[in-house]
Amino acid sequence: MCGIVGYVGYREAFPILISGLHRLEYRGYDSAGVALVSDDGRLNVQKCRGKVADLENFTVSKDVSGHIGIAHTRWATHGEPNDVNAHPHYSESGNIALIHNGIIENYGVLKDALIENGYTFKSGTDTEVLVQLIEYVKTTNNCSLFEAVQSALKQVVGAYAIAVVEKGNCDEIIAARKSSPMVIGVGEGEYFLASDATPIVEYTDRVVYVNDGEIAVINRNKPLKIVNLDNIESRVDIKKLELSISQLEKGGYPHFMLKEIHEQPKTIVDCIRGRVAADGSNVVLSGVMANCERFLQAKRIVFVGCGTSWHAALIGEHLIEDLCRIPVEVEYASEFRYRNPVIGPDDVVIAVSQSGETADTLAAVELAKKNGAFIFGICNVVGSSIARATDSGAYIHVGPEIGVASTKAFTGQVTVMAMVALTLARAKGTIGEEHFREIANGLLHLPALIEQAVELDAQIRDFSKMFTYARNFIYLGRGYNYPAALEGALKLKEISYIHAEGYPAAEMKHGPIALIDSEMPVVAIATRDSIYEKTVSNIQEIKARGGRIIAIVEQGDTVVRNIADYCIEVPTAPECLMPLVVSVPLQLLAYYIAVNKGRDVDQPRNLAKSVTVE
Ligand code: G6P
Repeated sequence: MCGIVGYVGYREAFPILISGLHRLEYRGYDSAGVALVSDDGRLNVQKCRGKVADLENFTVSKDVSGHIGIAHTRWATHGEPNDVNAHPHYSESGNIALIHNGIIENYGVLKDALIENGYTFKSGTDTEVLVQLIEYVKTTNNCSLFEAVQSALKQVVGAYAIAVVEKGNCDEIIAARKSSPMVIGVGEGEYFLASDATPIVEYTDRVVYVNDGEIAVINRNKPLKIVNLDNIESRVDIKKLELSISQLEKGGYPHFMLKEIHEQPKTIVDCIRGRVAADGSNVVLSGVMANCERFLQAKRIVFVGCGTSWHAALIGEHLIEDLCRIPVEVEYASEFRYRNPVIGPDDVVIAVSQSGETADTLAAVELAKKNGAFIFGICNVVGSSIARATDSGAYIHVGPEIGVASTKAFTGQVTVMAMVALTLARAKGTIGEEHFREIANGLLHLPALIEQAVELDAQIRDFSKMFTYARNFIYLGRGYNYPAALEGALKLKEISYIHAEGYPAAEMKHGPIALIDSEMPVVAIATRDSIYEKTVSNIQEIKARGGRIIAIVEQGDTVVRNIADYCIEVPTAPECLMPLVVSVPLQLLAYYIAVNKGRDVDQPRNLAKSVTVE
């Protein structure tokens, strides 16, 4: 993970770097640091354990002048989070400083060779090895920094987005990437560099997405130059950034997560805009339509994803099997990539990723691609690595998601999956006209239904107080709502640190029911779907053992109301869209319990939003 930022131009670099780090703090917040080259060529590295705010405190009254610099916010992989392991790392002579997002896998071998050549190491990181290697190559070959970086990277196995500056050179940053994201912003007489476009948007809307295996020479006095490790120059492809600053701010909410929960009525509108006909008669997803034959000829569809995206994929599985009668499997990308899966030209792989940068999902895509499968992406971040690696796809268009716990991306992903399923079902002839229109109209009404679910905010805030000291939670659901139960439990774990498990309701009697006592809150999703009566029986089984039941029911339900201790009523949608509606109160419940416990909701411990390491 980790976030990287760089600046070279005519402005003071430090404030730009710090505000960029704040924007990227969702990527990691164990430590932070900055390296500046002053106008007289001094290399000044400042770094410390903690968040970006700690770095700001640490540098108060220190000299942080300079018009060129690089900065880093870390999510620790190799080496504990402390001052020494914080980036930037610098070389033996102190002449070169480097920031890195990724993992150098062969760092052990490289380190041993450097130690034999007299190099010493201060940190426990893989990154320090790379900066030392660059210096070693530079001094032995007596070459430029660019040449040294290019040559050193040929020896590196692993993933990296790096930026390097050098004492005495206040004009130039050398940057490179492989399997970790990097965007360069192109201004007038200045350049910006970052892990994503959020630190760049307020200065320029002209960006270049660096490709895997490329090195950028970013010199404030020259046009941007991009070459690969074999020194073949690429065309600099400047794209226009579609992102506004207001999308990156909290807009009066105490946390991004709450803002993002409340945004969902609008983000669903953005997601379906231009895709679902106003009368519900048609759904047009161009990425599916253009490749319809490929989908319909597929022997099966395999979803790959991680975390919340994997939960969304479980709902996608139900939707596609239910409506299109195509066999579907859902795989954790991290397992799929390492288990020699049977995958080939007859398969369609759907990669689901909010960030479009999750390393395991990207690797799963590459593996499936190599084996000839057709790859379809469901991503949020436009131009992200996964979006670019797929053959086709559909963006979810929910805007930047900054809270580490995913909310609006989940509902956007499921909404896109419903549209994929409808498009394929109609093309395949597996859905009747009435059923098609019922679901398409359900999608059109979804923003209003989600709005009603969001309005439960005050009720859930009050009632959440009863659970501040709960130590465990169980979430139950069946059918379409089973993945919603898993997602509800994940939200609670992530941000409140309360142990929570999602379970298919009927499976409780095969073991977990032994956990039930009066101390155990059980969140049961019991909407009036095709297996409602069965779910009610499962709730009775919990009640009979003294569990405290919090039920999510449809408005007007009286049956579950008589059994449950607390009821949260949500509006009715078509069965296959209900997980979207029920997820909102579950997001709010997790949010308020975490707030009651005084947790850092947007930056929970040990987590990061974009997991670009495996
Ligand atoms: C991290 C985030 C989760 C997210 C998962 C997959 O664990 O904290 O919220 O669901 O990565 O991320 P992706 O960007 O691929 O959806």
